[in-house]
Amino acid sequence: MTLPSRVQLIDVGPRDGLQNEKQPVPAAIKIELVHRLQAAGLKEIEVTSYVSPKWVPQMADNHEVMQGMTRQPGVHYSVLTPNLKGFEAALQDKPDEIVVFGAASEAFSQKNINCSIAESIERFAPVVEAALAAGIAVRGAMSCTVGCPYEGEIAPERVAYLAGLMKGIGVQRVDVADTIGVGTPRAVQAAIEATLQHFALDAVSGHFHDTYGQALSNTLAALQMGVWNFQSSVAGLGGCPYAKGATGNVATEDVVYLLHGMGVETGIDLDALVDAGAWISAELGRPTGSRVARALLAKRTG
Ligand code: HMG
Ligand code: MG
Repeated sequence: MTLPSRVQLIDVGPRDGLQNEKQPVPAAIKIELVHRLQAAGLKEIEVTSYVSPKWVPQMADNHEVMQGMTRQPGVHYSVLTPNLKGFEAALQDKPDEIVVFGAASEAFSQKNINCSIAESIERFAPVVEAALAAGIAVRGAMSCTVGCPYEGEIAPERVAYLAGLMKGIGVQRVDVADTIGVGTPRAVQAAIEATLQHFALDAVSGHFHDTYGQALSNTLAALQMGVWNFQSSVAGLGGCPYAKGATGNVATEDVVYLLHGMGVETGIDLDALVDAGAWISAELGRPTGSRVARALLAKRTG
């Protein structure tokens, strides 16, 4: 088994992790989370989204967070922009990368962004064009690539179809997302294979929610295919507001432990990351969702 020697992790905790919190999380806490993540060695952070505050109130402080954080050289900050209105708002805050987000399932596309897959691509096309013209990188998130909360199992052909549409409008790299965490390794590998019909291996990342406890296995399955970009969320925070019952992303701490244990470099200081996760969990008043963090914190006090 050959694995990549290095993995790049994008921590999506400030965005995917916090977007679903019922209580407002002050911008100062989000900013502090970004600071702690970069101090722990994260080189990519998904900070916020420019979506309707009626749909996702928690992300309404996007400008405040982006303007309030202190950027660290070499760190890449990304934000979600579903349409031109969101992109224009984001532009003022100078993100390094914008993310357009579509779905392999029609029903999820409607619930999440209020339009069909075809319409979403029409909305994304001018966003991608404007971003590239402004020198901003473009990523495409593909939701429900193995399962959908409304349509059930999703065939790899539908993933290939969406990936082809994303490629066609100029998206530079894509996330293969298991939004509701139902995937198992072979299904996730099939979704990645379908994506590879349109994108190079270096342009594909894994985005696995851990609802069914499969995310680490799925990460290993993707690593075995050579995928070396992954999204994860510190302390396993999160869930999508339009995917009922879906829990957070795989915890960054757990992925880092897995990778370091296999001799794969991440550039991340696990102890500092565990501290960041313990801190945000305490702020939210709940235990960390990371098994590794729980074990390491218990060991420290023991
Ligand atoms: P819409 O209602 O179809 O949009 O929403 P519209 O163009 O008809 O506009 C309606 C209202 O929204 C107007 O305001 C617009 O100005 C406003 P009003 O006149 O009623 O006061 N509006 C906006 N406001 C702020 N920012 C914008 C924006 N666009 C329109 N960008 C829209 C379409 C996409 C905006 C809406 O459906 C929405 O905001 N959805 C939220 C989607 C979302 O954030 N979901 C969670 C993130 S995706 C995710 O978590 C999955 C991922 O992690 C991968 C995975 O795990 O699968 C990425
Ligand atoms: Mg997600």
